[in-house]
Amino acid sequence: MTIRKAVFPVAGLGTRFLPATKAVPKELLPVVDRPLVQYAVDEALEAGIETMIFVTGRNKGAIEDHFDVAYELERIQADRGKPLDALKGTRLTPGNAIFVRQQEPRGLGHAVWCARDIIGDEPFAIILPDELLIGREKGCLAQMVAQYEKVGGNLVCALEVPMEETPSYGIIDPGARDGVLTEVKGLVEKPKLGTAPSNLMLPGRYILQPEVMGLLATQEAGAGGEVQLTDSMAKLIGKQPFHGVTFDGERFDCGSKLGFAQANFALACRDAAMGAELRGWAKALLG
Ligand code: G1P
Repeated sequence: MTIRKAVFPVAGLGTRFLPATKAVPKELLPVVDRPLVQYAVDEALEAGIETMIFVTGRNKGAIEDHFDVAYELERIQADRGKPLDALKGTRLTPGNAIFVRQQEPRGLGHAVWCARDIIGDEPFAIILPDELLIGREKGCLAQMVAQYEKVGGNLVCALEVPMEETPSYGIIDPGARDGVLTEVKGLVEKPKLGTAPSNLMLPGRYILQPEVMGLLATQEAGAGGEVQLTDSMAKLIGKQPFHGVTFDGERFDCGSKLGFAQANFALACRDAAMGAELRGWAKALLG
C-alpha cells in the first residue's frame, strides 16, 4: 500500500528559542527564507505524500495561515507581474492539509495518536520538522519510500551519532545489515549514558503501520514522563518487519540553537544569489 499521509507533530512550545517563539511557532522560524515546516512539507511532497496532517496546539494558528491561500498577497504579486515561485509548496491541495490539536503536552507518542482517526487503517509517515534533513540526491522520506516498496512493514531513518549523544535520542538495537537497510531488533528512548545498544539514532523520519496507533492508545509514559512513540514502535518488533534506513545526506538539529545557526549558515552559503559573497565575508571575518 502506498504511503499517502504524513503526520507533522508541531505542538511543541519551542522554549529553547524564546523569546523568538513567544508569538511565532518554532516551526515557522526560517532557515534562509523558508520556514522549517516548509522544508518538512516539501520533503513529504517529493515522497508522494498527498495528505499533510499537522498536530498543532495553542498559538500555532500561523501554521494554518502559512499553508492557506494568501489571496491578497498572490493578487498583488500577480498585478505587479512578480513571479509566485517564492510561494511554491505553501498552497496545499484543498482538503489535504488537516489540522488536529494536541490539547496537552504529553509527548510525541500522544501527538501522533491524536491523528489516529485521520490515519485510519493505512500505513503513514511521520516527519519531525525540527530535524532538517537535506538529502544528497533525494529527500529523506523519498529514500525511505523507495525502501518501503521493497520490504514494507515499519521503517525508521537511522543515523550514526557520537556515543555520548545517545542519551538525547531514540536508539536502535541493530541486527543484520543489507545495503542501506538494517534490521531493527530493539528500540530504546533516551538510554542512560553508557547503556545504548548502538550509536544509531532516530532523526525523526518514520513509516509505520497503523497498528502502532492501537499501541499508543494504551502506552504508558516513558522517558521524561512522556508517552514515547519509540516505546510503542518497539512493541511492533517481531510482529511486523522493522528496518532502519541509512540516510544519504546531511542532518541539522534545528531543535537546538547551534544546529539552527549551522543550518542557516550552510544553506545560505549554497544559495545561488548570495552564497559566494557570504563565503567570502565569512572567510574575512574568521581571518
Ligand atoms: C524525539 C524522539 C526521539 C528522536 C528525536 C529526534 O525526541 O522521541 O526518539 O530521536 O525526537 O530529534 P525529542 O527530541 O522530542 O525529545
